[in-house]
Amino acid sequence: MKLFELTLPPWYSNAVVRHITFGILIGFTLSVTSTSISSYWRSRRRQSLSQEQNDLRPIELRSNEVVRGVTGLIGNTPLVRIDSLSNALGVEILGKAEFLNPGGSVKDRVALRIIEDAERQGLLHPHTGSRIFEGTVGSTGISIATIAKARGYDTTIIMPDDVAQEKVNALQALGADVQRVRPASIVDKKQYVNIARRAAIEFGRSDITKGLEDAHTSHELNTGSASVVVTTTSSHVNAEGTIDDPMDEDLLSKPRGFFADQFENRSNFEAHYDGTGPEIWRQTNSHVDGFVSGAGTGGTIAGIGQFFKSKNEEVQVVLADPEGSGLYNKVKHGVMYDRREAEGTKRRHQVDTVVEGIGINRMTNNIDLGIPIIDDVFRITDVEAVAMSRYLVHNDGLFLGSSSACNLVACVKFVKKMRWREGQTLVTILCDSGNRHYSKFWNDEYLRKANIPVDRSIIDDLIAKPDSGV
Ligand SMILES: Cc1ncc(COP(=O)(O)O)c(C=O)c1O
Repeated sequence: MKLFELTLPPWYSNAVVRHITFGILIGFTLSVTSTSISSYWRSRRRQSLSQEQNDLRPIELRSNEVVRGVTGLIGNTPLVRIDSLSNALGVEILGKAEFLNPGGSVKDRVALRIIEDAERQGLLHPHTGSRIFEGTVGSTGISIATIAKARGYDTTIIMPDDVAQEKVNALQALGADVQRVRPASIVDKKQYVNIARRAAIEFGRSDITKGLEDAHTSHELNTGSASVVVTTTSSHVNAEGTIDDPMDEDLLSKPRGFFADQFENRSNFEAHYDGTGPEIWRQTNSHVDGFVSGAGTGGTIAGIGQFFKSKNEEVQVVLADPEGSGLYNKVKHGVMYDRREAEGTKRRHQVDTVVEGIGINRMTNNIDLGIPIIDDVFRITDVEAVAMSRYLVHNDGLFLGSSSACNLVACVKFVKKMRWREGQTLVTILCDSGNRHYSKFWNDEYLRKANIPVDRSIIDDLIAKPDSGV
């Protein structure tokens, strides 16, 4: 120590060493702190900028690019704020404008996914004279017929004979073979879905293939799924429906019959889980408090509902169920039942309502995927649905179909029940346009005969009711 002290200049002391050390320490600390503060502010700024960009960024819909063919027009539909209801309720009521799809309804997404999945799995091959069969009340048929034409398939659509005539006209214009049958229960062999399935199985043996070389032969392929029916007129199929060589030229080029089966086919659910759900999530910047939908096959409510729940379990999933449908009781009490079935007062066999496309009285694969995630359900009367459709035209210039009107009545009922009024966001589906419903739902004369009043003030009354009074 001594030696050390001796070598230091005289002005040097312990105090000086301390001061220098402190000086260095303070300088170092100041520099580290200022660097961290400035990088913290830079990152905050970056975050807020990206948030601003997120908020301001126009959602890319129908962009300037040229899309490929009619299928390029499917999806990416806008989300429209329903001004009248949103302003009256103090809640953002947003409708996914699915009526803008080229086939005119939400079903375009499902038809496209079913056909693409079948092609991916090698079950269908374009331009081989193959035919897609489906049982439908109309919308899915129109979507399948549209896409089938673009992809090189023929279509046979079996539908109940009491659906709006304009759907039949559209199907025929699209070149589909349309067969209209008496409405019947699903246990009846003559029910339209059962007939479609059988027609697919008989493809190759039936009149449809008159003129084809192999019109007398048809083999059902083993697809590994009870619901997926594929037949081929190729003889390169074993007795059990298995094939030795999937690349066999004859097998790949011969016509096939394919049953699309929207009720049981999982592609239906996936079209919404992978497509419609994520689109809405992006369009709302993840701000969804509730989602309202009707269910015909259940694909929409199951697919979008499950996607929302996977993002945020708090999102409320709400079913809008028309008169005559058994789903209301299934959700409320676990039993699929509708009072009118017992009373025998049904106007139609499938579901007793003037509303087309939603309501069902049996469990299907797709509705099965939806039931567990449904938080609430509302029974919507024909009178309420008609009133809402007229209210929306009068106040918003929105000309919508019957299932969209049902969805929006359920939106109002749900908001009132939840006492929401602080700008929450409730999303629903605008499934198709009013122009698919001129002969029934949008026909005042038809409604008068069916004892359904046309009175939009019913919606004003519903909105004016005290909260939770519904
Ligand atoms: C007009 C319309 N709206 C709603 C639905 C119901 O959709 P989902 O079958 O996904 O339940 C359908 C079904 O066919 C429909 O045609």
